[in-house]
Amino acid sequence: MAKLAINGGKKLIPPGAIKNWPPIDDIDRKMVMASLEGGQHAFGPDCKAFQEEFAAYTGNKFAIFTNSGTAALHMCVVAAGISAGDQVIVTSYSWSSSATCILHHNAIPVFVDINFETMNIDEDKIEAAITPKTKAIIAVNLHGLTCNYDKLRAIAKKHKLVIIEDSCQAHGAKFKGVNAGKLGDCAAFSFNQNKCLCSGEGGMFVTDNEEMAKKAAQLWSFGETATPLESRDYHSYALGWMYRGASLPAAFGRAQLTKMNSYFNTIQENAAVLTDKIKDIKGLIIPVQPEGYLHNWYNYTSRIDMKAIGWTGAPTAMRDAIMGALQAEGAPVGIWQRFILPDMTVFKAKNAYGGGCPWSCPFADKLGEKVNYCREDFPVAQRHCDTHFGMTVPLRAPNTTASAALVGEAFLKVFDNLNELKVKA
Ligand SMILES: Cc1ncc(COP(=O)(O)O)c(C=O)c1O
Repeated sequence: MAKLAINGGKKLIPPGAIKNWPPIDDIDRKMVMASLEGGQHAFGPDCKAFQEEFAAYTGNKFAIFTNSGTAALHMCVVAAGISAGDQVIVTSYSWSSSATCILHHNAIPVFVDINFETMNIDEDKIEAAITPKTKAIIAVNLHGLTCNYDKLRAIAKKHKLVIIEDSCQAHGAKFKGVNAGKLGDCAAFSFNQNKCLCSGEGGMFVTDNEEMAKKAAQLWSFGETATPLESRDYHSYALGWMYRGASLPAAFGRAQLTKMNSYFNTIQENAAVLTDKIKDIKGLIIPVQPEGYLHNWYNYTSRIDMKAIGWTGAPTAMRDAIMGALQAEGAPVGIWQRFILPDMTVFKAKNAYGGGCPWSCPFADKLGEKVNYCREDFPVAQRHCDTHFGMTVPLRAPNTTASAALVGEAFLKVFDNLNELKVKA
């Protein structure tokens, strides 16, 4: 039996076998240098071109380049017409800003548990969370798998709700042939280091709705009504932030965008090889791609079935031990979130803007005060949170199917030797 690297055995994946993301080539160098030497470093022509090219990539009519996905999410909230005291439904397991963007606009997040299989919001539990104050659903397309938009659209239509897509992780994903970014009323993408499209930091607001685009653009640039490339009167017509993206990240993002289709093919091939290697491991729950969905495998997230491996102690102790053993073999796996959203202090303590806002703001009335956050109300999200680990870089270009196969071998080695792990019950 192979001795695990964590116990002094030979590391399965040699150093350097897994390459960093994103790959950089002459296209990046040329476009970034041209921007650097072009003399316009704030919101300039590269930003405008990036907006147009990204809009063409998703198929949207309007795109606004931002300095982060979080900024784009806040723009979605204002574009959806949400105001103080309104309620917005969101998944209980995601990145913090999928829900703090609601607080940014003094509105109230209402969490819904997840579907264990898809890791996304459980669409069948949404209606029970709707109140007369509910205005929108933020549908997070987590880890690159979209939500079920047939179900979401039916609920939204019935209750007159806006659908905001958090597609920060979903570049290139599809539901029934429709691109992420086109599935809701508006959407936010992120381009930070780890995302399937990297511009360093950055994001994009997209929509097909002109009114929504106008509202978002106003929030994006000081509450003004003209973009920096138009003639400005420097007048704040509404409350605005400074969410504009800059030229250098735009140039980098544009260069990376030219390679998106080949990146997408690589990740599909690598994910297929990994899945094939590890699909029969007892006790490992691998991610799914249900019929009608196209996953982008942004984060290949697995869960450990504690029962199947006969573990009755704390799930996090066993999960951490398995993850540590995989890391020791050279597999760059990690935990994405250690807390479900309703268990984060900003929600639990309702400390947002202070003074009880938004939960006890006069517009929230009694319905706002009734919203409380308690970990026990989201058992599925908590189970996922305590048993998951994921990976991003190993399946991305320039890594090949050989790297994916090596990662798969590391999984097989660790799961074949679970009895070697020293875990405190
Ligand atoms: C699901 C999700 N939403 C929102 C964000 C926020 O994006 P950014 O970091 O660009 O602000 C992220 C980024 O990690 C994310 O993964």
